[in-house]
Amino acid sequence: MRSLLQTLTLSSVYKRLAGIFRQYLTDEAALRVLDLGCGKRGNFAGFSGYIGLDRLRYPPKTEGKFISADVCDIPCPDQSFDAIVSTSLFHHLDLEQADQVVREMSRVLKSDGRIIIADGVFPESGLNVFGHLLRHLDRGRYVRGREDFRRLFRQWFQLETDIFFTQGIYAYSVLVMGKLRDNESI
Ligand SMILES: C[S@@+](CC[C@H](N)C(=O)[O-])C[C@H]1O[C@@H](n2cnc3c(N)ncnc32)[C@H](O)[C@@H]1O
Repeated sequence: MRSLLQTLTLSSVYKRLAGIFRQYLTDEAALRVLDLGCGKRGNFAGFSGYIGLDRLRYPPKTEGKFISADVCDIPCPDQSFDAIVSTSLFHHLDLEQADQVVREMSRVLKSDGRIIIADGVFPESGLNVFGHLLRHLDRGRYVRGREDFRRLFRQWFQLETDIFFTQGIYAYSVLVMGKLRDNESI
């Protein structure tokens, strides 16, 4: 019963995330989109230029290309994507890994590109006891608060929109960001 409820809540979280992603990736038919830590579900494979990347050896059972690699070392040329998306990846990365991934994201994103990064964070309200507990029990060992999550990106990306929502007991942060500068300019 509990896992059925979790599945239902998570599927509504992902429906909501997909809506937000579509809202900010307006020209979706023309976009080359990289999904970091895409997992098995292939959540955003609907985009025509979609490429999923994950350390999994096998691709999700969805359309779209797949690269099996570590997100800290993206095997793609500089400035090769219009957009980079990611859901529920960063709470699996320690600070050093997260810094490396963010630098890689900046390298492979076009100058006028956009990133949309979503992750589960600790709830803002202390009253959401189960939401806090859930995050403490997560398999990802690096769940962050909303501020710490946002701070991961600020050296390389400029925040355009900061969305926070709680669905059931799950708290999510979604950050829409543009590139601050090209890597060779520092
Ligand atoms: C919680 S799952 C999220 C999957 C998918 N994005 C989703 O939201 O359903 C985290 C994913 O990140 C991937 N991952 C974690 N660390 C990684 C790394 N260093 N390199 C590549 N993939 C990684 C895992 O293999 C896993 O598929």
